[in-house]
Amino acid sequence: MKKIIIIFLYLILFPVATSNQEDPEGVRQFFLKVFENNLPGVAVSDYVNGAMIRSADALEQFESIMDFPPFQGDIELGKAIWETPLPSGATYADCLPNRGVNIAGHYPIFDEQSKKLISFEMLINDCLEKNGGVAYSFDDRKTMGALTAYARKLSDGMSMDIKVESEGALQKFEAGRAFYFKRIGQHNLACASCHLTHGGKYFRDELISPAIGQPVHFPVFRAGERLYTLHMRYQRCMEAVGAVPFAAGSEELNSLEYFHSYLSNGLPLRASVYRR
Ligand code: HEC
Repeated sequence: MKKIIIIFLYLILFPVATSNQEDPEGVRQFFLKVFENNLPGVAVSDYVNGAMIRSADALEQFESIMDFPPFQGDIELGKAIWETPLPSGATYADCLPNRGVNIAGHYPIFDEQSKKLISFEMLINDCLEKNGGVAYSFDDRKTMGALTAYARKLSDGMSMDIKVESEGALQKFEAGRAFYFKRIGQHNLACASCHLTHGGKYFRDELISPAIGQPVHFPVFRAGERLYTLHMRYQRCMEAVGAVPFAAGSEELNSLEYFHSYLSNGLPLRASVYRR
């Protein structure tokens, strides 16, 4: 019976999720159905545990690392940057909505005026430039990385809440979805080949995290020390399949993030965590 359901899912629903159709919520429900099959009995709220999802030992080790994070210094560095006044005298808190608290789960936002996505990182650079500073590189660990490792924590506990509410927004969502299902690189694999089809299952000898639950905890500190923003993590996976990665902060990765984050709507944010 279970086999039949799974075959049904792939034959009927995979083409739906991969073809052009205009229902973000339908796509999200499709992902949830696949993971329900891959991870029977596991609550959706536990998907945030990613590749540790099936191992009580790994989760216990994770929580004990999180009690005294070896990367606390990076978060402190971010806090210092956050609190240092910009050349105009204003601080980041002065120019971010709600002083930067409980907002990260709304980003990326589709901006109807510019018809572009605005990521949380772009919001920070915008604030910086408007107040006499020079924009940070999206992949600089010591500036944008550390700063967001702190600033995103100000939204810990809020639910991911990405909105796709206009034709323009839908186009960006569609671009991200197309990217997610496109086979790339020498290995000819799509993000979906691993994080949808194998989400919660083994692929070769690695347990693969499900797509839902991934974007809520970035940046991560791999091996407890090396900071990866979400875009930098995307780049590593693109390299792993033999593809040339898009730049951090590019429109391509913003669209991918928009689609990918939407899938986690409703899950609580918890930035700056340990990952293997
Ligand atoms: C060959 C399989 C494979 C493909 C294809 C792949 N990844 Fe991954 N990805 C992994 C593995 C293995 C890890 C590390 C274990 C884990 O967290 O799943 C990982 C980790 C991640 C993480 C970090 C998860 C976390 O909780 O820290 C993100 C985000 C991610 N991948 C996104 C993507 C995106 C986006 C694509 C498409 C551009 C992609 N991956 C393509 C195998 C893959």
